[in-house]
Amino acid sequence: MQVIIFDDAQQVAVNAAEWVAELITKKKNPVLGLATGSTPISLYQQLVNKYKAGELSFKNTTSFNLDEYLGIDADNEQSYRHFMNQNLFNHVDINIDNTFLPTCNQGENPREQGLAYEEKIKQANGVDLQILGIGANGHIGFNEPTSSLASRTRIKTLTQQTLNDNSRLFNKDEFQPTLAMTMGIATILDARYVLLMATGESKAQAVKDMVAGPLSAMCPASALQMHENAIILLDKAAASKLEDQEYYHWANNQNIKVNEEFGLYHNY
Ligand code: PGA
Repeated sequence: MQVIIFDDAQQVAVNAAEWVAELITKKKNPVLGLATGSTPISLYQQLVNKYKAGELSFKNTTSFNLDEYLGIDADNEQSYRHFMNQNLFNHVDINIDNTFLPTCNQGENPREQGLAYEEKIKQANGVDLQILGIGANGHIGFNEPTSSLASRTRIKTLTQQTLNDNSRLFNKDEFQPTLAMTMGIATILDARYVLLMATGESKAQAVKDMVAGPLSAMCPASALQMHENAIILLDKAAASKLEDQEYYHWANNQNIKVNEEFGLYHNY
C-alpha cells in the first residue's frame, strides 16, 4: 500500500486526477473503474477541467462503475447512472455506450446480471485503474462489513449505517433503495491499480482499520492490503488516526524518486 497524505481534500482530488490523466494519455484503450459518492466529485471536476483545457480526451476510454441501486430507473435522479452523467460523462467526450454500471432492472435476474457484468469487464481486458471511496464502516463499493473477500459482482443488502450515511441525499418522502448491485471485493482486487480517496474526520477510523488493522471481512477495505498496487490518497483529517505519519511522508518521497528512475510496476 502506498499511503499519501495531503494537506486538504482539494489536493487529494488534484493528485487523483493526475493518476487518471496519466493512464488515459498513456494507454490506447484505457479501462477506468469509477465510483460515486461525495468524495470523487472533486476528482470528476478536475477531469472535466482538464478535458475542457484540451489536456485530456476520454474518446477511447471504457468505464465500469462499482455499484448501482436496485429498484430505481436509470433516469431517476438518485441513480448512480444519473450521478455519473451529471458529474462526468455529460461534460467530456467519452462514448456513453462504453460506460457501464452493474444494473439490474425490473424483471432481470441479479445473479445473471452479476455474472454478465464480470464477463463484460473480462472482455474489456480488465480494469486498469479503479477509483474507490471508503464508507465510514470500511465498505468499498457496496461491499458491506462481512462481505466475502472473494466476492464477485452481486446483489447486496445495505447496512443501516450506510442507509443512514446516504439518507442525507434523499428527501424525506423519497424512496431510498435498500438493495444494490456491486462489484465484489475480488472484482476490485483484479484491477491493475486501485486508487482510494478518503477525506474528512468521519473516515479516520475506517482508514486506520484499512491500512493498519487486520485483514478482515469486518473492514472490507482492508482487503486492499492484498493488492499489489494500492494507492491511498488521504487528507490530514482522514489520516488523523494513523500512527507513523512521518514514515508515510518519507516513504512517499522515496517512491517518487524510485518511480522516476525505474517506472511504475506495470506500465498499464
Ligand atoms: P462518500 O462515500 O464519498 O459519499 O463519503 C464513500 C463510500 O461510501 O464509498
